Amino acid sequence: MINKVFHYHRSSKHNQHAFAPGPGNLDWASQPDPFRRYEGAETLPLMKMAPSASPTFSEALTPEKVLASPVGFESISQLFFDSLALSAWKSFQGTKWALRVNPSSGNLHPTEGYLVCGPLKGLSEKPTVFHYSPETHGLEVRTHFSEETWKKMTEGLPAETVFIGLSSIHWREAWKYGHRAFRYCQHDLGHALAAINISCAGLGWQTHLMDNLSHSDLEIVLGLPEKDDVEVEVPDCLVAVFPPPKSLNINSTNSDFVKGFSDLIWQGTPNILSKSHMDWSGIDEVSKAVRKPNSSTPLNAIEENSSHLIESDNFPLRKAIHQRRSAVSMDGETRISRNTFYQFLVKTIPSACPLPFQTFPWEPQVHLGLFVHRVDDLPKGLYFLVRNKSHLEDLKSALSNHFKWEKPEGCPKELDLFLLEEYDCRRMAAGVSCGQDIAGAGCFSLGMISAFEAPLNQTGPWFYPRLYWECGAIGQVLYLQAEVSGIRSTGIGCFFDDSVHHIFGIKDLKYQSLYHFTVGGPVEDHRLTTLPPY
Ligand SMILES: Cc1cc2nc3c(=O)[nH]c(=O)nc-3n(C[C@H](O)[C@H](O)[C@H](O)COP(=O)(O)O)c2cc1C
Repeated sequence: MINKVFHYHRSSKHNQHAFAPGPGNLDWASQPDPFRRYEGAETLPLMKMAPSASPTFSEALTPEKVLASPVGFESISQLFFDSLALSAWKSFQGTKWALRVNPSSGNLHPTEGYLVCGPLKGLSEKPTVFHYSPETHGLEVRTHFSEETWKKMTEGLPAETVFIGLSSIHWREAWKYGHRAFRYCQHDLGHALAAINISCAGLGWQTHLMDNLSHSDLEIVLGLPEKDDVEVEVPDCLVAVFPPPKSLNINSTNSDFVKGFSDLIWQGTPNILSKSHMDWSGIDEVSKAVRKPNSSTPLNAIEENSSHLIESDNFPLRKAIHQRRSAVSMDGETRISRNTFYQFLVKTIPSACPLPFQTFPWEPQVHLGLFVHRVDDLPKGLYFLVRNKSHLEDLKSALSNHFKWEKPEGCPKELDLFLLEEYDCRRMAAGVSCGQDIAGAGCFSLGMISAFEAPLNQTGPWFYPRLYWECGAIGQVLYLQAEVSGIRSTGIGCFFDDSVHHIFGIKDLKYQSLYHFTVGGPVEDHRLTTLPPY
């Protein structure tokens, strides 16, 4: 199975001479519907929330700074509003499209969200599985289940726990991006997970990934059975969400409750997304290869705390969340201060800024290979941020042996940032990002360089998507920090994999670049009209 993952990874690489197999010309007639609807299911509108000045971004990211809200109709409405809802509509020459709080490669939105909860005033008198509809900001009832199952499901968890399920419809991405689309679906999932974590942080809540559950358990709980169908919706994870208890004693082997979901009647018929399809067979194969088994070998999480590195700001969290946008073009001029640059990096380190990463029960695997272009008092060049100290020595021996590994001036001592080589790398950064100028015309851009072969061999193929989830979560926090810093950023899924590896001296599968990002002064496209989300 692991070979299937390595095979998919290699065959989905882009390079200067050939892109990974994709559809070439887009078949607009078969463009997938971005909204899943369960036709015939009872729907329940959630509250559309007014903007709030508190908490600020830095308060929300600092543990224990936000007083926990009680779990109920209003806070559940807020949770979805700040994580998976629409944030705007754009229109141009008679065409209109929705944008969301969570970003998505090509704005195709393969990620679907579910709420699994016990009886909750204003939502349901019985334990229920709901599908979240971003189109209406509402919940569609999929099924009710027994109180006894709910009791078993929440064993060891705080009384007010609810669960958020996430799934992916790979076809939505594959329609445009073909073979590489599976990667993008996993990036998007990571963005959505962090969006949920950050939304929870704004409510003073915590999250816990139910990573003891197998893929088949998730299929049963979310009512998403395996189907031989191009539009199949594949369950990815279930996250427990709760106000922080005094002590937490999670039974990490609890899956007995899953039986209680097996013989339920599910309401609603999923809508058909496209009139016709192209079958990207490699995606189905890798998706099956990474199905999580019952037992797994977790990689231990590290416990450290350097949250004092987060500088306080006055920027309302929810303003950042709802105004977040991808820059489509960068101005090639805007500069940021060295201190602002360090704040971007601090927000990506779980020990310094745990809340966006709280869901992940494994120690960080992903590091940042940085192309610095326009940061005051820092030389242009190639830098490296080590997000997990225990990888430092290995990275030094795996990357090019002519790198300097010098700590830049003014860098907080807890931040493992190193200057590798001084030079103007603007053209190179754009070149390896499939020639996209945004990677060279901002303040800095980066490749997310992940430990690859070792964690996959140690845990198994099911860990492959999780490496992308970690990347997506880093991306989400960079997106928000950019809004807070008065600039913009953009996720970059299109890059020439092995050209990036060549720059850093990576010769094998020990480390691989899995996602790129750029941050800088945006150039707005004034031809577009912006309309409110609802
Ligand atoms: C995984 C991922 C990959 C992306 N890759 C690119 C890219 O290569 N180039 C680009 O210009 N934008 C890229 N984007 C930005 C998306 O196009 C953008 O998120 C989408 O159009 C929705 O717009 P919004 O982020 O403003 O909501 C990417 C976004 C994500 C999440």
